[in-house]
Amino acid sequence: MTTIRPFTCDDLFRFNNVNLDPLTETYGLPFYMQYLAHWPEYFQIAESPSGEIMGYIMGKAEGSGDLWHGHVTALTVAPEFRRLGLAAKLMNILEEISEKKRCYFVDLFVRVSNKVAVDMYNKLGYSMYRRVIEYYSGDVDEDAFGLYYDMQLHEGGMLDQLHLLDVHQVEDDLSHQVWFQDHNNYI
Ligand SMILES: CC(C)(COP(=O)(O)OP(=O)(O)OC[C@H]1O[C@@H](n2cnc3c(N)ncnc32)[C@H](O)[C@@H]1OP(=O)(O)O)[C@@H](O)C(=O)NCCC(=O)NCCS
Repeated sequence: MTTIRPFTCDDLFRFNNVNLDPLTETYGLPFYMQYLAHWPEYFQIAESPSGEIMGYIMGKAEGSGDLWHGHVTALTVAPEFRRLGLAAKLMNILEEISEKKRCYFVDLFVRVSNKVAVDMYNKLGYSMYRRVIEYYSGDVDEDAFGLYYDMQLHEGGMLDQLHLLDVHQVEDDLSHQVWFQDHNNYI
């Protein structure tokens, strides 16, 4: 049986089987520690009966007023455990936590080339509201889609603003790059 439990510091030394995936970002230790210290409830791991790490989700709650929301920083499942519904389950947990915190929405960024993940998020009810140019740096920089899930706690607010930022408008509008520079801690 799969166990879903809070991520612990020790797991950082055991998650190579998951993080070797090219679409899974690996951050520096302080980054993970910051999440463990500030948002431990948002950092959950799935473990197999034999103790192997199957996948994990890392996120946070941030913003204020109408912008108070949950954010998915990382979601990954080891290749041998995919298509079992694990990612959907981990997303569901993060959404439930966000709901308890009275978040207005959950958002995340995903590589535009990551069709599997984009399709999965669409299936889970996420909508695109933004394209951020060269969000991911590397040998060749890559754009990100900003996706959000409406917690339907109230009408209007941030979601109205998000709808205004229709992706087709944003692609022609360099102001989103300014948004990115202003929010360069917004990972
Ligand atoms: C994207 C990822 C997290 C999905 O994990 P997963 O546990 O296999 O996903 P689930 O089994 O919960 O799938 C949920 C739904 O997403 C869709 N989906 C997931 N993987 C898919 C695939 N390879 N092909 C087609 N649809 C897929 C399906 O609709 C699936 O529902 P279904 O199995 O009932 O049809 C996993 O492939 C992964 O870790 N990829 C590398 C890291 C990554 O891209 N993370 C997201 C970055 S933001």
